[in-house]
Amino acid sequence: MIFHMSLRSNPMLRKTNLAVWRAWQSWKLGLHTSTVGASPGPGPWERSEALSSVSTEKPPHTPVMLKEVLQYLNIQPGQVVLDMTFGGGGHTKAILNMVPEVTVLALDRDPTAISLAERLAKDHSGRVKPLLGRFSELETLLSNMNVQPGSIDAVLLDAGCSSMQMDQAERGFSLSKDGPLDMRMDGERYLDMPCAADVVNTLDQQALASILTAYGEERHARKIASAIVEARRVNPITRTQQLASVVAGSLPAAVAYARKDRLHRPAHVATKTFQALRIFVNDELNELHAGLCAAQAVLRSGGHLCAITFHSLEDRLVKRFLRGDDLSNLDHYHFSPRNQGNRKKKLMDERRDGGSVHWLPLRRKVITPEKDDVKENPRGRSSKLRAALKL
Ligand SMILES: C[S@@+](CC[C@H](N)C(=O)[O-])C[C@H]1O[C@@H](n2cnc3c(N)ncnc32)[C@H](O)[C@@H]1O
Repeated sequence: MIFHMSLRSNPMLRKTNLAVWRAWQSWKLGLHTSTVGASPGPGPWERSEALSSVSTEKPPHTPVMLKEVLQYLNIQPGQVVLDMTFGGGGHTKAILNMVPEVTVLALDRDPTAISLAERLAKDHSGRVKPLLGRFSELETLLSNMNVQPGSIDAVLLDAGCSSMQMDQAERGFSLSKDGPLDMRMDGERYLDMPCAADVVNTLDQQALASILTAYGEERHARKIASAIVEARRVNPITRTQQLASVVAGSLPAAVAYARKDRLHRPAHVATKTFQALRIFVNDELNELHAGLCAAQAVLRSGGHLCAITFHSLEDRLVKRFLRGDDLSNLDHYHFSPRNQGNRKKKLMDERRDGGSVHWLPLRRKVITPEKDDVKENPRGRSSKLRAALKL
């Protein structure tokens, strides 16, 4: 397993990385042993008509950039699509409604999402194949189904959490609703998997600060980590609201009130802390890398990939993967913007003209949601879509 690449790749954090890694491993052991290339035009059937037939029921998760995903996946009748992040099934349902005779392999690590996929499979007999598992388990899952490498026509990867996960207080992702500090996407499957409360109550201050810096890009990581360690001396931190108030109490009011989201709305001061913990608990960046490698292996030549991300750490990873950077040696990559290497290296990167031998971008620039879409679905405001053709 590639362990927490941002920590490893950030020279400033290398020392503490080792400390995090050791602390974590020993704790776990202690517990249990502009368009270029092919342009996706409309298919032979009427896309707009098909789109309007997509269910009007309020979905459990509003799919982001649906129009753009359908456009760039460019799925043809009878093709096989892999939705690597089924979630509430919004993208899959639109694909099923839009393209005749399509088959969707629907992966998700969350058993709740897969039970929705199973329900959908009953309504579309044979056209939806639910797959419970992680990106890193995909190769085995597909091989068990006799799906050959290089045989899938289109792949969608819509990273991060679903609204179903965020909105259920008992899942522990939410800042606004009190619940157990859990944050595991598939804790039900891996009962011994450490949750967010285990992280905040177990790791030392330096390790916690490293996690907040690397995965939350939190400038006040050290102060917050110190407040967490102080607070847990009195009582273990077991609830989401408890953690949110420890974080809020650790920073001056001026800092807390200055935080804004991308829509310039006041943002909770603990947002970055929650993001960092969630990424760490679910090993999200390593999983994303595994997911991109799996997509590359399963897509046929000429097949299309759409990858949607929700924060800069993920988008940088996708961008570099599609550019053909060798991410297997992640020590050479700096996922934190403050550590993106020197100017010379940047210039060398820019001068490289070869690009990837595996991917051709379908749009040179990253795709972002339209203003109206963001108004309708503010959760999608930070989403970024990269679309590429497998060479
Ligand atoms: C943003 S939601 C997807 C929403 C979906 N596109 C829709 O329209 O409803 C992301 C989903 O990906 C799943 N997920 C995240 N990381 C994963 C991983 N490593 N392997 C498999 N599924 C993952 C989450 O459980 C979540 O359900």
